[in-house]
Amino acid sequence: MSGIPTSDVPVDGGKVIVDARVVITQPAQGTFKAFTAICPHAGCEVTDIVQNVIYCPCHGSTFDASTGARIAGPTPTGLTPLSVTVSGGTISVR
Ligand code: FES
Repeated sequence: MSGIPTSDVPVDGGKVIVDARVVITQPAQGTFKAFTAICPHAGCEVTDIVQNVIYCPCHGSTFDASTGARIAGPTPTGLTPLSVTVSGGTISVR
């Protein structure tokens, strides 16, 4: 997946690309991360990224927006990291 403008991804926040089932975050200015957006607990798609925490709406699991690691909730594991490249103001994820 490519062509996501960096300006679509707020610092300390992020953006869920629903069709691609990917969540992109910017945990520090100019640092972009991406993870699969599917919660390992029961397969819901994460929805919100606030102050570097990714939230799953179904049962309240939370994940670190820098690493994808589990913070709390029923999820047994974190979100799987994906490879991110930034070029010319757009983001590509593999
Ligand atoms: S599916 Fe995400 S917390 Fe249950």
